[in-house]
Amino acid sequence: MSSFPTNRPRRLRRTPALRRMVRETELNPADFIYPLFVQHGHNVRQPIVSMPGQLRLSVDQLAAEAAEILTLGIPAVVLFGIPAHKDPVGAENFADEGIVQQAVRALKAAAPDLVVITDVCLCEYTDHGHCGLLNEQGEILNDPTLDILVRAAISHVQAGADIVAPSGMMDGMVQAIRSGLDDAGYSHIPIMSYAVKYASAYYGPFRDAAEGAPRFGDRKSHQLDPANAREALREAALDVAEGADFLMVKPALAYLDIIARVRAAHPQVPLAAYNVSGEYAMIKAAAANGWVDEKKVVLETLLGIKRAGADLILTYHAKEAARWLQEQAA
Ligand code: PBG
Ligand code: ZN
Repeated sequence: MSSFPTNRPRRLRRTPALRRMVRETELNPADFIYPLFVQHGHNVRQPIVSMPGQLRLSVDQLAAEAAEILTLGIPAVVLFGIPAHKDPVGAENFADEGIVQQAVRALKAAAPDLVVITDVCLCEYTDHGHCGLLNEQGEILNDPTLDILVRAAISHVQAGADIVAPSGMMDGMVQAIRSGLDDAGYSHIPIMSYAVKYASAYYGPFRDAAEGAPRFGDRKSHQLDPANAREALREAALDVAEGADFLMVKPALAYLDIIARVRAAHPQVPLAAYNVSGEYAMIKAAAANGWVDEKKVVLETLLGIKRAGADLILTYHAKEAARWLQEQAA
């Protein structure tokens, strides 16, 4: 009797054609959401030093950007605004001529088919850099903050946003925005909730890019403790109950287990994962040094996020990855 194994998984890996037949996960440009940073001014294409390849753009640059994104097969962008003035309540966030409102109008005029998502939070707009209104002790006032978030969301939608994405991790945030949008006649506009957002050091480069770092303290009173997984499920369940149309887990790579668990707990709800700035910067830095093969590492990373359970990936790699995927398909 032969002592060789009869169960041989390698049979299915013998040729590229066989491997293709048994491939479980496939990355597609339609999975990507590309983050855009917008600022006031004209002809602005300001490189973000800690995020090589990413730019802060002025509104006049957005039509060309939108065309490129759609050509690459990427369906959506998420907008971050850098306001002209910061104040304690972040007033530009709900101003008609605010930077995000201008950007949304420009994008929708140039490319009506591009899905425009706006990040709804206070931290880029407040002079203290926190995600909510503060009391004299510097603590976030949860419920008064909700009123501001609702005003911002309505204002973004009035400008033409297709989806609003509240990222502030305030309690009751999704419910407040849902009923605010409904009352304003926008019951058809979906909410993509940053439902499971950890207090992560991986946001460092983004905070340079969007000038959204807190002037003092940190975000641990609202963002999740990286040690906690069960609490993530509680946050996700609450947001679903409050009416979230999409859930998001953020960051992605140190939280692939969370992506898988949220996916399993909420099979009906589309799930996004945010491949954040620090995750991007690490690959870019290693690639610039010639230490990793950038294309292979990026595609493997994004595939891993999708395999973990994400339907959609917010990623700064979106344009390059879409180009590589198009080349592979050609
Ligand atoms: C808050 C917001 C942040 C990011 C997206 N939305 C920063 C934060 O919570 O400090 C981080 C995204 C990234 O790091 O790529 N408006
Ligand atoms: Zn914030």
